[in-house]
Parts: sequence; C-alpha cells; structure tokens
Amino acid sequence: MALKLNLIVAACENNGIGKNGELPWRLREEMKYFSRMTKKTSDPEKKNIVLMGRKTWESIPTKFRPLPERINFILSSRPKEEFGDVNGSVICKNFEAALDEARARGNEIDTVWVIGGSSVYQLALESEFLHRIYLTRILQSIECDTFLPDIDTENRFKLVLGEGVSQEIQEENGIQYKYLIYEKL
Ligand SMILES: NC(=O)c1ccc[n+]([C@@H]2O[C@H](COP(=O)([O-])OP(=O)(O)OC[C@H]3O[C@@H](n4cnc5c(N)ncnc54)[C@H](OP(=O)(O)O)[C@@H]3O)[C@@H](O)[C@H]2O)c1
Repeated sequence: MALKLNLIVAACENNGIGKNGELPWRLREEMKYFSRMTKKTSDPEKKNIVLMGRKTWESIPTKFRPLPERINFILSSRPKEEFGDVNGSVICKNFEAALDEARARGNEIDTVWVIGGSSVYQLALESEFLHRIYLTRILQSIECDTFLPDIDTENRFKLVLGEGVSQEIQEENGIQYKYLIYEKL
C-alpha cells in the first residue's frame, strides 16, 4: 500500500517552532486547526497516525496524550520500558520502522501526519511519500531554540487551497498568522 505522509507545523518568520521544550506561543484556535486537520480522514472507518519525536511527545501534557482519535507513533532510540504507560501509543526505533509499522496496518490507516520536531520534519521532507505541508506561518519573529528545516517551497511545491481552511490572516493574543498548504510537485 502506498503511504501518504503529510507534515504539519506552526513556524514563525525566523522558522522557530519551539522554546525550552514547549511551543513559544499560545494559539488556541491554531491548536484546534491542528486537531481538526490531523483527525480528518476520507473514510470514517480509517484513522490517521501522528508521528513525532520523543521530545515532542514529552512536550504534550500527560493528560492530553496520547492525542485522541489518532494513533500516536513516537520515534526514539530508547528502550520501550523507559516510557512507562504510553496508553496504546507505538514506540518506533527509527523513521523506516515507523513507516513499516504504518504500512503493516494497511487499510486501517488514512494518512501519516508528521508533527515534529526538527529532525523528524527533515526526514519527512526527504521522504518520497511526502504529499503536503500544512504550514501555519506566524507573521513575526519570536525567540526560539528549535527550528523548522529550510523548505524549497519555490521549486518543489505549489500552494493549494484546503477544504474548510481559511485564507484570511488570523489573529490571536496579538499574534497574526496564516494557514498555508503546499503540495509536492
Ligand atoms: N511549532 C510546532 O508546530 C511544533 C511541532 C512539534 C514540536 N514543536 C516543539 O519542538 C520542540 C521539540 O522538538 P525537537 O526537535 O527538540 O525534538 P523531537 O524531534 O520532538 O524529538 C527528538 C528525539 O526524537 C527521537 N528521534 C528523532 N528522530 C529519530 C530517528 N530518526 N530515529 C529514532 N529516534 C528519533 C530521539 O529520541 P531519543 O533521544 O529518545 O532517541 C530524539 O532525541 C518542543 O519545543 C516542541 O514544543 C513545535
């Protein structure tokens, strides 16, 4: 079965995505957008996978993880026993193992959403299975310590419209941002 991989990220003008193991901003509507996009499937019988690095998993408050209605995959080189109870989430030893595990679930799976952080985004950008990038562009520079790798949006992608995705500039807590969707050429 051919896998479909999407990447979803919120990044500010300097490509920052994180600070001190957390998001550098609080944008409730943007979080709802993330949930809506990563939950949506073409068939109600199917589920999406959210694939993340160990630090992104740890950045999710315990009471909110695993992310509901999605199958949570965590990339880590650490032994599974070190994680304690991950409540049905799957620990994968590398990116390929995660894709193999997704493939093994066959028709149960709609889309694999890569949800960060930096090195996992890099692997998704290099993957032949990458389909779309859902980029929330925050329209200011914010101090960060974790960054989105450079993306050649000019030559490798085209901008597309998303169903039910606003093209207007959004604003929350004095922070402006917009939703962009890039599809691989
Ligand atoms: N703005 C956004 O959209 C967004 C999205 C996600 C995260 N974030 C932010 O980004 C920060 C976390 O991201 P991060 O880049 O620091 O870390 P990360 O990618 O979430 O986690 C890094 C860890 O993941 C594991 N890992 C990554 N690639 C692997 C591979 N190929 N094989 C096996 N294990 C692999 C390793 O875990 P082990 O050390 O256990 O081996 C590695 O130390 C936080 O501040 C978070 O809030 C922001």
